[in-house]
Amino acid sequence: MYTGLLNHYQSFFNLPKTAEVITLHEGQTPLIPAPRLAALLAQETGIEGLRIYLKYDGLNPTGSFKDRGMTCAMTYAKHDGARFVLCASTGNTSASAAAYAARADLETLIIIPKGKIALGKLAQALLYGATIVEIEGNFDQALNIVRAIGEQHADQVAVVNSINPHRISGQRSAAFEVVDALGKAPDYLMIPVGNAGNITAYWQGFKDYQAAGKTAALPKMMGYQAAGAAPIVHNQPIEHPETLATAIRIGNPASWKLAVEARDASGGRIDAVSDEQIIQAYQRLGQLEGVFCEPASAASVAGLFKAAQARQIEAGQTVVCVLTGNGLKDPANGIKASVKQAKRVSLPPDAQTVAQYFGF
Ligand code: F0G
Repeated sequence: MYTGLLNHYQSFFNLPKTAEVITLHEGQTPLIPAPRLAALLAQETGIEGLRIYLKYDGLNPTGSFKDRGMTCAMTYAKHDGARFVLCASTGNTSASAAAYAARADLETLIIIPKGKIALGKLAQALLYGATIVEIEGNFDQALNIVRAIGEQHADQVAVVNSINPHRISGQRSAAFEVVDALGKAPDYLMIPVGNAGNITAYWQGFKDYQAAGKTAALPKMMGYQAAGAAPIVHNQPIEHPETLATAIRIGNPASWKLAVEARDASGGRIDAVSDEQIIQAYQRLGQLEGVFCEPASAASVAGLFKAAQARQIEAGQTVVCVLTGNGLKDPANGIKASVKQAKRVSLPPDAQTVAQYFGF
């Protein structure tokens, strides 16, 4: 039986022998081919024969990639004798932290930017039993508060944001799974960038897998920030980040330096995509491939189209787009972006009337 990524990739984790593994059997998410998206991309950009795959990490137990890091961070928090776990979040980290803390019998304390969290994520954190503080401020300010409280109460509190190295360590497993599925690393990895932990973790994961002889080559790391929240692209912090992709509404990423290192060492890029490009990719993923992700996740696919248009990707390459979160987290944006929404009708419960409406 599969019992989660810490057990599955045991040799890549140096867990203390006495640690009890806190797991929801996260990981083993599908790598889904996207041939219709590849055909559309060829038609629009002339870049033919791309093998596009979607790493659908929205199928983790709490619906996002955060579970990969949380199993590891929570296992250590419990082992080290913490009473509380604390995090700032744009939503997914808080949902994941609250779920894993429930299993570990620890208390969860969460700080979120008021009014900027998708409803599904808030529902999760509430149901798992977290204590939630909304601040009149943004994620970056919330993270500063977390750092301060974490330092002051280090004896009782484990900070489970990606400044906790165990988070990054656990998230390397996504890169392991991509290589296991393809038999090698892809040529390009397209990934949304917010606090920049995930791009850092993937790059570390690919390098560790290469060192273990599991892949000869490494991918080019292609990170995408939302245009209104693109500090790395502009090379300066953004004081008031804005994007409808609230998960990546971050103006001063904690792993900024490491993301730049991953970009440069891999020969990749970090670029910005507009909210319009994000929404178009979000719609296309649903309508062409039957995959419902969060708007923030669609930044990876928006980035792929942008890179192809700019001739930054050659024909025939293998490309993995990371879909970080499940679309069900944010039904409001799903409905808003749906092209058929305007055409929804209400009819009497009569077969003939309904058939007629369908055009039979
Ligand atoms: N996609 C989703 C769905 C996210 O929730 C996040 C980050 C990212 C992408 C960006 O990943 O921060 O590692 O660069 N969400 C964090 C949170 C900030 O609080 O849930 P990153």
